[in-house]
Amino acid sequence: MADLNELKKAAGVRAANEIKDGMTVGLGTGSTAAYMVEHLAKRIKEEGIKVIGVSTSWSTTLQCRKLGIPLKEMGEVDHLDLAIDGADEIDPSKNLIKGRGAAHLLEKIVASMADRYIIIADSGKKVKQLGEKFAVPLEIIPGAIGVVTAKVAKLGGTVVVRMGAPGKDGPVISDSGNLIADAKFGPIVDAPALAAKLDGISGIVDHGLFIGMCDQVILAAEDGLEEF
Ligand code: A5P
Repeated sequence: MADLNELKKAAGVRAANEIKDGMTVGLGTGSTAAYMVEHLAKRIKEEGIKVIGVSTSWSTTLQCRKLGIPLKEMGEVDHLDLAIDGADEIDPSKNLIKGRGAAHLLEKIVASMADRYIIIADSGKKVKQLGEKFAVPLEIIPGAIGVVTAKVAKLGGTVVVRMGAPGKDGPVISDSGNLIADAKFGPIVDAPALAAKLDGISGIVDHGLFIGMCDQVILAAEDGLEEF
């Protein structure tokens, strides 16, 4: 059986090869995106391509600094040629759950800025219905946790504040200073409708349902790459 990291790397390398000289590119967060960033750094060094990255998290920013990838702040640009990121669940319509690493707010902003949005993952991330395995991550203004929990319960979801262990007592605080929680719905029958309802709850800064954003999925399986 192929090593999971080898699959993630195959998807990451394939996507990094989509980056062209002169592009400004959104760089996602997570273990699969990290392989893409690693291969981009190799191409910059070996091929001399000029690429500017826009990072989706402190985690990716630190990796880029270490590897010498030039970065711009998100606020310095209003458009990206391409964004590449991982995902936690991917349905047949290319809708996604993201946010296992609590980066979904910045990831969604970066995705919205891109002409083309590519998702990379191992084939285990493919689901028939979103919510089969993962809860929906929420980024919440801390003082709104009570009202958000109550309103999400009316939609059928159970909100649990994500805790920070190891290395942090208490809750996970996002890179933007908000609480991270997970809303467990089980399999979601109508993900676009649920996303619209979550968009309408004051106090939720953003959620991990990415609807109609992804243009291309690159999945790595033991027998090769699958793209749709
Ligand atoms: C970060 O918050 C997430 O949205 C990641 O992009 C997602 O969890 C994928 O991460 P892995 O590639 O590590 O599975």
